[in-house]
Amino acid sequence: MLSREDNEVLTRVGPGTPAGELLRRYWQPVACVAELTEEKPILEVRLLGEELVVYRDKSGAYGLVGKQCSHRFASLAYGRVEEDGIRCPYHGWKYNGDGACIETPAEPKGSTLKDSVRHPAYPVRPLGGMLFAYLGPAPAPALPYWDVLAWEHGRRTVERHSVVECNWLQCMENSVDPSHLFWLHGRTAHLASLMEEFEEKEDFIPFDFGIMKRRTTPIKGKGVQTDQHPLLFPNILRHVAHDRSGKGGHRHNLQYRVPIDDNNTQVFMVNFVPEAGVHSPADASAPFSFVSMRNEAGDYRLDMVLAQDVMAWETQGRVLDRTRERLGSADKGVVMYRRLVKEQIEAVAQGNVPLGVRPAGSESIIELDVINERIGLMRPERQGAAQ
Ligand code: FES
Ligand SMILES: [Fe+2]
Repeated sequence: MLSREDNEVLTRVGPGTPAGELLRRYWQPVACVAELTEEKPILEVRLLGEELVVYRDKSGAYGLVGKQCSHRFASLAYGRVEEDGIRCPYHGWKYNGDGACIETPAEPKGSTLKDSVRHPAYPVRPLGGMLFAYLGPAPAPALPYWDVLAWEHGRRTVERHSVVECNWLQCMENSVDPSHLFWLHGRTAHLASLMEEFEEKEDFIPFDFGIMKRRTTPIKGKGVQTDQHPLLFPNILRHVAHDRSGKGGHRHNLQYRVPIDDNNTQVFMVNFVPEAGVHSPADASAPFSFVSMRNEAGDYRLDMVLAQDVMAWETQGRVLDRTRERLGSADKGVVMYRRLVKEQIEAVAQGNVPLGVRPAGSESIIELDVINERIGLMRPERQGAAQ
């Protein structure tokens, strides 16, 4: 249970809010590389309560700038991209990716008006088929090269999921709540039939980048099986599952739960399946798909694990009222995570660098100790290890 005040502190994401300031210290995905094309080089983005557009200009450079033009607020989402920036559709003001206004064509020759204009703009970088943005104070830290983004020895795909209509914290609490696997996903995840009854040991181990969640489960005739994967602080789940192609491989994935605003969350998923003879450069685009959690009738697709989770998150309410919940001992991971968020919010407020943030220049691949014996992943995957 939380006080009303703490619930607000942990959930609100707009500029100047405590959690908003914390989340702005981390690079966040804004779109998939494949979503920006020559035909459609501009995409509207709402991120952490801010209205923005992400674009690729004609030189191939990416930009993320305020949606409303600094002149008289027409939307740049209807603008056009040029060699060196984006031009407003209304009176033609042009901005570059640094937020400089570089043309005000209706002004007299020699006008210095543009020099006094500073348009909101944030750095954007492509990696692993995604576009990442940094909305915090300069200097931008290192963009984390998580294994799933940076591995090249297999096949990578990226997904945008339908918007989750609730606050981001509910989605993240789910990642340190292992007892829900049996109840919410048991049938779909083919786990229930393997277990005599609900019985598992759960450990939550803080580490340099978040919380490692380890579940040990007794399996009929097979002793004990381990499943461990981390919550990457503050808003990513690093997971592994069966490869969907049915070839028996493992689909390593990152699930980013990106706050759109206080009441909505955008999930992006990056998948990587190691495969001999296949090479996917970390800086290349990746095949993209949009995945809806609801069917055409608008009902949850409850045959899908991800939609089962979304059903649980959304039905908790737009922003879960944590003043009325009744926590038990099985919620210890949730309690640990909330404490960590609060502690890191305070660290930022005191001018310190929060958990997992590294200075620019320290971009090297971060391989995580993910194991899932239930699906045959007995030791962590490593690029370059003998297959
Ligand atoms: S509103 Fe954009 S140029 Fe006037
Ligand atoms: Fe789940």
